[in-house]
Amino acid sequence: MSTIGVIGTGYVGLVSGTCFSEVGHQVICCDIDEAKIAKLQRAEIPIYEPGLEELVKRNTNLNRLSFSSDIASVIHRSDVIFIAVGTPMSPSGEADLSYVRAAAAAIGQSIRDYKVIVTKSTVPVGTGRLVQEIIRSNQSDPSIPFDVASNPEFLREGSAVHDCMNMERAVIGATSDRAAEIIARLHDPFRTTIFKTSLESAEMIKYAANTFLAAKISFINAIANICERVGADVTEVAKGMGLDSRIGNKFLQAGIGYGGSCFPKDTHALKHIADVSGYDFKLLEAVIETNDKQRMLVIEKLEKAIGNLTDKKIAVLGLAFKPNTNDVREAPSLTLIPKLLEKGARVQAYDPIAVEEARCYLPDSVVYTQDLYDAVRDCDACVILTEWKEVVTMELDHIRELLRKPVIIDGRNCFALERMRQEGFEYYSIGRPEVLAPNAVLSV
Ligand code: UDX
Repeated sequence: MSTIGVIGTGYVGLVSGTCFSEVGHQVICCDIDEAKIAKLQRAEIPIYEPGLEELVKRNTNLNRLSFSSDIASVIHRSDVIFIAVGTPMSPSGEADLSYVRAAAAAIGQSIRDYKVIVTKSTVPVGTGRLVQEIIRSNQSDPSIPFDVASNPEFLREGSAVHDCMNMERAVIGATSDRAAEIIARLHDPFRTTIFKTSLESAEMIKYAANTFLAAKISFINAIANICERVGADVTEVAKGMGLDSRIGNKFLQAGIGYGGSCFPKDTHALKHIADVSGYDFKLLEAVIETNDKQRMLVIEKLEKAIGNLTDKKIAVLGLAFKPNTNDVREAPSLTLIPKLLEKGARVQAYDPIAVEEARCYLPDSVVYTQDLYDAVRDCDACVILTEWKEVVTMELDHIRELLRKPVIIDGRNCFALERMRQEGFEYYSIGRPEVLAPNAVLSV
């Protein structure tokens, strides 16, 4: 079996490296952050990801997985090197490639025999060629052969280990058949569909896939907004649409839009790629704009329900951008909570695991509670931003007793309308008819 080196122990690098070791490969993960490597060597995982810690421990104990901050030695010992460093969004929306460039330069300086260098990070089309150039220009002996390839990652946070172990396809775009075959063989134990293509097409597939999913979400959110105006229920509409296999039933959950480390970044990056290439990608621009506006519905609905927010106490349930992760990047909570405070409201927030992460970005006046019910106590309304299991299964009669007014603004459509009616709530969700107080007239 080949030895795999992974540069970058962020989300993608750590999960993919660990899963490659789980199926039997020898994997060395490397990072410039020595403190992080020291922690990983003690099996302390810097991110919350179900199942990851067990896999890291098992494979470290089996000596299949190791961690190092000595990049040169990792390059010497590996046959295939994955670049999985961060590509953050720069102010123009473009992906910042400085970490990719640095990794490529380090590879060029250390390479002594044939290697396959694979980009796993989401990078603009043309980055594979750039990596090739940088390696070449840093080689002390330019006769040493190497190939570059793109093998994009399609992991979802919160189910990344499951997604990696059960990957639906491996997209491989390489500069030679030899390299494509080496990467394909690495995937044999995953028994997945291998799709070989050009370097540029593989790079494009990642952006096209992610922005298509983002477009699906913005589309259903736009439909939800119309549903509210015409008296339809978007959950029913999505079900009916999803029965058509050409459409499929996934990623049609209306709500307050997408967040996280991928969709916001990748939609902006592809828009930038399109602009630079001379194509006016209006459709994608609308996807982004629809998403930005969607989260603001929470404030509109809240003001409609309880009026002016000055001195009102609001419970916010969920800070992470989605359940099963402590990631708050581009989370609706980070824009909505400051907005609530700006409008004079006081905020009591609960999240099962993302409080420390959110605290770094939110004003000090936010009160965090360890218990969901404490967040709701004495509040004028409760706002749901993340559909955590704890939220979806909360005891509604207890919530009703704790709230000053039985008002719930649900940005994730967690509850059936009939149930909320029976429980006596005033319930505002996304793209569905409002449930008003027993004596009020039902409006659409
Ligand atoms: C995504 C892609 O799914 C993954 O393939 C890619 O590699 C990285 O980006 P991730 O960001 O972890 O993964 O989460 P995902 O589960 O896809 O959800 C993204 C966002 O869309 C979340 O904010 C979620 O709340 C939202 N979403 C998702 C919806 O609003 N409606 C849906 O129907 C699905």
